[in-house]
Amino acid sequence: MGDKHVTILGIESSCDDTSAAVIRDGVLLSNVTASQAVHEAYGGVVPELASRAHQQNIVPVVDQALKRAGVAKEELSAVAFTRGPGLMGSLLVGVSFAKGFARALGIPLIDVNHLQGHVLAHFIKESEDDHDQPSFPFLCLLVSGGNSQIVRVKAYNDMEVMGQTIDDAAGEAIDKCSKVMGLGYPGGPVIDRLARQGNPLAYTFAKPHIEGYDYSFSGLKTSFLYSLRDWLKDDPDFIEHHKEDLAASLEHTIVEILMKKLRQAAKDTGIKEVAVAGGVSANNGLRNAFREHAAKYGWKIFIPKFSYTTDNAAMIAITGYFKYLDQDFCGIDLPAYSRVTLK
Ligand code: KG4
Repeated sequence: MGDKHVTILGIESSCDDTSAAVIRDGVLLSNVTASQAVHEAYGGVVPELASRAHQQNIVPVVDQALKRAGVAKEELSAVAFTRGPGLMGSLLVGVSFAKGFARALGIPLIDVNHLQGHVLAHFIKESEDDHDQPSFPFLCLLVSGGNSQIVRVKAYNDMEVMGQTIDDAAGEAIDKCSKVMGLGYPGGPVIDRLARQGNPLAYTFAKPHIEGYDYSFSGLKTSFLYSLRDWLKDDPDFIEHHKEDLAASLEHTIVEILMKKLRQAAKDTGIKEVAVAGGVSANNGLRNAFREHAAKYGWKIFIPKFSYTTDNAAMIAITGYFKYLDQDFCGIDLPAYSRVTLK
């Protein structure tokens, strides 16, 4: 340590991306991610293959992150790692590496909640004069393959889940519908691309009717599946003939479901700073809906750069940075957790 800088190495290995990033005084110096193509052939992430790939990738990824940052390991102030939620076998690789690395260097360890990382990705500065950040309190729509929730962010370390999915996540619904259409995994980017060429009002699918700010996507998934079955009876090539309209209508329905509850939450709380985070925040339909809401309701919106939408260590490092300022460290005996919510 020694100097006055706070330099954090962040490590992320919760699913199928091995990532390491270095942040100094809140400014990102490097963010290196190795993705795992091995899962493509299986239509989803295979946990055992993911943890093996993490083991192969973790050392070179950390090495690259330090080199690109121009930071020697002795200059690090602390090591921050994703503790969970995620796949246990994947998490263990990053957690074990972080513990060993921090212990060898004699520096503190910081555990990071992956979901908190997604939200705080909005505070990553790419340069000293990067000041486009939300102010507290703001709302964050956190939408990924495993989560769909509306978070009221009161401070870096104080977040309240106002509502969340009671069954599938939005990304999960997109992935499953795309699988039914034979479009491969992950479905999000393909659906997004096809949707740009289709009619969003071509088909209607079931929307949930639940109280409060909670979401539900399993009914939509079933409605999509059953509608498709009926249409395929009349035209065996229905999907091929209508894939753009199907993708556009599916995306439109999901975006409408997400925005309706978010709109309500913004109205009820009177909060006008609204952010979006997580893998599904890469979706162009959702991004456009945010822009439309900004124009219509006077929201100040925060849409992450594409590189911070999917899993990355930069968001873990920035969360670690804030926890470092609070001297919020963890012990070497802290276990990983596969399931956890935001606190
Ligand atoms: O946050 P994330 O990388 O990790 C998990 O939660 O696992 O989110 C992945 C999810 C997947 O469901 C993927 O299909 C979805 O994000 N996704 C998208 C897009 N890019 C990724 N969904 C819609 N449109 C996209 N462009």
